[in-house]
Amino acid sequence: MNRVVTLSEFIVERQADFPFAKGELSRLLSAIRLAAKVVNREVNKAGLVDDILGSSGAENIQGEVQQKLDVYANNQMINALRAQQEVCGIGSEENDEVIAFDKGQALWGKYIVMMDPLDGSSNIDVNVSIGTIFSIYRRKSKAGTVATAEDFLQPGLDLVAAGYVIYGSSTMLVFSTGNGVNGFTLDPSIGVFCLSHPNMRVPKDGRMYSINEGNYRQFPEGVKRYIKYCQDEDAATGRPYTSRYIGSLVADVHRNMIKGGIYIYPSTGSNPDGKLRLMYENIPLAFIVEQAGGRATDGKNRILSLTPEHLHQRTPLFIGSKNMVDKAEAFMEEYSSTSAAVKNEN
Ligand code: AHG
Ligand code: MN
Ligand code: MN
Repeated sequence: MNRVVTLSEFIVERQADFPFAKGELSRLLSAIRLAAKVVNREVNKAGLVDDILGSSGAENIQGEVQQKLDVYANNQMINALRAQQEVCGIGSEENDEVIAFDKGQALWGKYIVMMDPLDGSSNIDVNVSIGTIFSIYRRKSKAGTVATAEDFLQPGLDLVAAGYVIYGSSTMLVFSTGNGVNGFTLDPSIGVFCLSHPNMRVPKDGRMYSINEGNYRQFPEGVKRYIKYCQDEDAATGRPYTSRYIGSLVADVHRNMIKGGIYIYPSTGSNPDGKLRLMYENIPLAFIVEQAGGRATDGKNRILSLTPEHLHQRTPLFIGSKNMVDKAEAFMEEYSSTSAAVKNEN
């Protein structure tokens, strides 16, 4: 039997691969890991709490009002990170403003965490996979001071680590510190994440495309043409491709990491910057997918090279197998000037 490697053992054994001083990554990840386990426990009883034990608005045993799972996940992550004191600030999809710790040891924290605590929240009620996305940056300002805007608005190229947790048929934590990507599956019987997917690689080609085709009429011409290309028949390339759209970005990207494929959330007529958030969703997943040999762009520019201008900034996202993203980008380029003219033709 192969020896089981736990997440903690992995970090100790591979310390030399990580751009962190000894113990830092382990403490940061243990905060995230702990929050993930607590969220996982809540996700697993979501139906019980809402439908059997009392609907939202009810109080739990400690007399606290039950929170929506995304607020709950946000609080768990913030509390766990605050307790570890490696982090001086947190940016979260759930908070309008950044959280910059202004007292105690946290002022000396060297890192910033950006996160989407609960991704795919529309899938909570229907028992479909959801996730947590996080990224870690080194602070730019002086340790001992309160973190500033320059600490939070860093480009993806300055990331030191990123990862996601997927609460699926099993719960996994997948992360990268810039030396490839490794996936760990939670063994629920002992509450330990074990290395199950070492050195994950996104297949160069894939046969699945994920996009919310309900928005088709509002897509740029290049995306419309790419979808038609995916639906064309071609024995050599395996087309028509299969369409798969979960509606949880983490789950769609995770599937494509393993099986190959492309996920697209383009600009639409009503949302010219798309829907997904640059700092909480696009940059961390771009980092992981690139580390696994795939590509991530906004249809034109590499996601990691974009410098965020404001916290909750959105950008379009084309992410997944290298050859598929290349192809979609070629369509975007070819039809960039005709978009407006033929906008409502199809
Ligand atoms: P969140 O739950 O964090 O707000 O993210 C939802 C995102 C993403 O997970 C998913 O792929 C996308 O929204 C789905 O959007 P549409 O329903 O517009 O397709
Ligand atoms: Mn999300
Ligand atoms: Mn979210």
